[in-house]
Amino acid sequence: MAELNSNSRPRVLSGMRPTGKLHLGNYMGALHNWVKLQDQYECYFFIADWHALTTDYADPSNVLANTQEVILDFLAAGLDPEQSVLFVQSHVPQHAELHLLLSMITSLGWLERVPSYKEQQENLLGKDLTTYGFLGYPLLQAADILIYQPKFVPVGQDQVAHVELTREVARRFNQFYKLNGTEVLPEPQSLLTPSPKLPGTDGRKMSKSYGNTIQLTDSEPEVRKKLKTMVTDPARVRRTDPGDPDKCPVGDLHKVFSSPETLAKVYEGCRSAGIGCIECKGWAADALVQVLAPIQERRARFSEADAKNILDIGAGKATLRAEQTMVEVRAAMKLAPAPRARR
Ligand code: TRP
Ligand code: SF4
Repeated sequence: MAELNSNSRPRVLSGMRPTGKLHLGNYMGALHNWVKLQDQYECYFFIADWHALTTDYADPSNVLANTQEVILDFLAAGLDPEQSVLFVQSHVPQHAELHLLLSMITSLGWLERVPSYKEQQENLLGKDLTTYGFLGYPLLQAADILIYQPKFVPVGQDQVAHVELTREVARRFNQFYKLNGTEVLPEPQSLLTPSPKLPGTDGRKMSKSYGNTIQLTDSEPEVRKKLKTMVTDPARVRRTDPGDPDKCPVGDLHKVFSSPETLAKVYEGCRSAGIGCIECKGWAADALVQVLAPIQERRARFSEADAKNILDIGAGKATLRAEQTMVEVRAAMKLAPAPRARR
């Protein structure tokens, strides 16, 4: 299958921090789209375990277990190791080497102005994020990206500023350094992934930190139980009060996962008080169970040993590709080539 990865399809690269078992929001916001890219693009997808350390350095004890869960979720979602390179960031130390080299040309002001820098410091008040590593988060991300010389980076809206920084860094690198007159680090483009609004059980955005998620591994009874406690249109206090699915988180789930026929029944029944919320939630649960079933079937087919093996192979392929870029980067920067033992 090596031929598949060295063909002329445009290359894409994306990554995800290992936050533990993934939920439906992670799936709809990223994985679902990644799976669809696999036929058209030469894909590299990785688990950003070093990025997890930028916020969890004080207690890294979950990072490895989370990484192992996330690779299983990758495979469960339908990422295909025969088609795409699936790997762990820390298995490819070239990312760190490029990060270091890029740090030489990156001004502090650029990093301080990335919106997530201040936002995260305000959101994660319990953590001291006044560290060098956290400031450098987007630069490490730039290295993750540029080292594969990809054409596109599929990301959600929240990551666009990071891709912009990546482009600025590439531009600056190319101004300073060239290899035989040609540019080494092409500027990649964001490939904005459509991510539907996906509420959690409390009506806020589905997020692990809110504890309102539906996990990709939740069993049917768990899904039904979570749906039962889900908040609804606050205007529907009594069964006889009409409601509005556009003001209801359960309605939002229907819009993403239910058939047009079911959605029509929801609008009609809710607005006329012809259906109760319990019935409506049952239909939403039906739709979720249908989405989760194939994901859970695939997950069951991979053992932990399979997952390890897939990551080993992915590390080998990613390292080869990353080292190819580093050969050019070192030469352009007039550094010593790698010693023979590494070639
Ligand atoms: N910062 C990304 C996130 O939180 C994860 C990430 C790390 C990433 N390196 C990347 C995404 C490179 C795309 C490309 O989701
Ligand atoms: Fe929400 Fe459905 Fe109840 Fe309407 S009927 S308020 S859409 S749960």
